[in-house]
Amino acid sequence: MSKQNVYDNNVFFEKYRSSRGNEVNFNDCIETPILLAMLPDLHGKTILDIGCGMGQHAKQYSDMGAEAVLGIDISEKMLEYAKEHNKADNIAYRRMAMEDIDAINQQFDLVTSSLVFDYVEDFGGLMMKIRNLMKKDAEFVFSMSHPIVTAWDGVYDRYTRTETGERLYANLRNYCREGLRKVDWVVNGYECYHRTVSSLINALTGAGFMIEECREAHISDEMREKYPALFGGTIHRPEFIFFRCRKMPGK
Ligand SMILES: C[S@@+](CC[C@H](N)C(=O)[O-])C[C@H]1O[C@@H](n2cnc3c(N)ncnc32)[C@H](O)[C@@H]1O
Repeated sequence: MSKQNVYDNNVFFEKYRSSRGNEVNFNDCIETPILLAMLPDLHGKTILDIGCGMGQHAKQYSDMGAEAVLGIDISEKMLEYAKEHNKADNIAYRRMAMEDIDAINQQFDLVTSSLVFDYVEDFGGLMMKIRNLMKKDAEFVFSMSHPIVTAWDGVYDRYTRTETGERLYANLRNYCREGLRKVDWVVNGYECYHRTVSSLINALTGAGFMIEECREAHISDEMREKYPALFGGTIHRPEFIFFRCRKMPGK
């Protein structure tokens, strides 16, 4: 499988759009605050946002002082939404698969990506393409599903529960078996790739990156208590993993 475009599926898109429309969701309450905290000062920076989706991050970067933001995404529907709801004079949206970014004829001060790399088959190859699009002192900040989360095949509950449904443990299945996972999640045959933590780290260093920071998703006890159905499981596992990288000198 390569270049799945599930966000252009009507059912998937509507489900995603409506969950992002809720005031309390995983992206806005967990992913975005951590990712933004890992970014450098954006004033005067040119930014490439890979898998920009509906453009929320591109708009934030523009509002935070970026000089120019290029958002690329494979989904026409996501880009349509971005162009309508998250536009600014210094943001350009372009339909493009991340696998094809070597066609971009520009280098950037910062490359970002939020929750997109789960969909790429050749993670190491993509890391090399990204490094080539970065200026000498550029930074690369991204999030993706934590490998603990992608170690799932859809056939069992993600948690071991008490009789009353309380989550006792997070379950893992075949963590050590990497590759395509096809599950019935929102749509039949949703596809993403599972990789171990060491594979992510080795792909980054192998592509010539220094890892300056790695974070795992967290949320406050207060939020967990306030929204137990949504965030109750986050005490057992980090949903996302985050990296901040630079090019190794001489690479
Ligand atoms: C979970 S959404 C995240 C969107 C956005 N980054 C955000 O955080 O709000 C994943 C995005 O990745 C995009 N995507 C999936 N596969 C892609 C590919 N091969 N090339 C480019 N974008 C892709 C989807 O269309 C979708 O917009």
